[in-house]
Amino acid sequence: MTRTPRDLAGARPGPAFTVRVDGREVDALPGQTLAAVLWADGTTAWRTTRVGGRPRGAFCGIGSCFDCLITVNGVRDLRACLVRPEPGDVVSTRDDD
Ligand code: FES
Repeated sequence: MTRTPRDLAGARPGPAFTVRVDGREVDALPGQTLAAVLWADGTTAWRTTRVGGRPRGAFCGIGSCFDCLITVNGVRDLRACLVRPEPGDVVSTRDDD
């Protein structure tokens, strides 16, 4: 049996909801950060560096490194490790949106 951190902590989050990530519905739980939502969905990198095009996602996880920048509801350059998504949020990992 696989135990998740949520199991180990005995957490009982509220009902799941969805956010729209690059046009796709993705499940989220109340209290998760957007970075956690993306990780849980199997996405570990969601942008690339300007120089070299190297993949980036969450690195520090505490809002210090700015590696996890993302666009939420048209607001660019938010840190996914700090944003707590709301039901129906529209998330874009592309800079041109
Ligand atoms: S992961 Fe470092 S600021 Fe978000």
